[in-house]
Amino acid sequence: MILLDGKKISEDIKNEIAAEVAMMKANGEKVPHLAAVIVGNDGASLTYVGSKVKACERVGFESTLVKMPSTTSETELLKKIKELNENDDIDGFIVQLPLPKQIDTQKVLMAIDPSKDVDGFHPENFGKMALDMSTFIPATPFGILELLERYNVETQGKHTVVIGRSHIVGRPMSILMGRKGFPGNSTVTLTHSHTKNINQITTQADIIITALGVPNYLKAEMVKDDVVVIDVGITRVADETTEKGYRITGDVDFENVSKKASYITPVPGGVGPMTIAMLLKNTLLARERRKLMK
Ligand code: GUN
Repeated sequence: MILLDGKKISEDIKNEIAAEVAMMKANGEKVPHLAAVIVGNDGASLTYVGSKVKACERVGFESTLVKMPSTTSETELLKKIKELNENDDIDGFIVQLPLPKQIDTQKVLMAIDPSKDVDGFHPENFGKMALDMSTFIPATPFGILELLERYNVETQGKHTVVIGRSHIVGRPMSILMGRKGFPGNSTVTLTHSHTKNINQITTQADIIITALGVPNYLKAEMVKDDVVVIDVGITRVADETTEKGYRITGDVDFENVSKKASYITPVPGGVGPMTIAMLLKNTLLARERRKLMK
């Protein structure tokens, strides 16, 4: 079994980005500037956004954190997005999801200037991704592709089973694994809460990507020998023995599934750090594109 070490690979990527930023600085160029908007006080979301901002500092990007109260109206958030769209100093920005109930997420995502949409959630960018056009690929799926590529995991002709059809992970992942090229050229099955006899499907999978948020969902009897397992789950499970009072748990019963797998991502230290590294990569790309537009 080979561990797909997202922590290490994400450090490699951040070092590559930092080297590019250092070169930009040496040439007297503007460095990339990422803004992140968070609405409300969800602990996990605050932690993720904090990590994104910290990663910006680490590679030499400028960053802006916009914190808005949980009572923020849709109109107020749309006004902030307009400001960020029009602020020439900002190269890219994200609105952390989920949003409070009073706000229509689709409306918000549609309001983001596609050239600054480093999450790749705007329909224009999502459509371009589905059509193999150059665009911002959503950070988590992009991170998974990068892990598969850097470990040279064969995907061509393989049966990839994606569990979960969220707009952030499952849906884009199912499109990307079926695209022409590497990683890609897979035969893809997208499963979800209405899928019948899921064990029959997962036991035929060469590659399984779980994006469910159900701790320890994927059990050893659901997979075949030598399967490749990518675990996107990051659920906080109460644990009094830890300092924080919780631990992060993936969708995969790692202890038992890892005994059968050829490659597997750990949680934490697998997909999570890759997501942040690829958001930085998209922001660098946004900066480079804006430079060409001038
Ligand atoms: N919430 C969970 N994952 C993500 C992500 O990749 N981007 C944003 N904006 N919100 C998220």
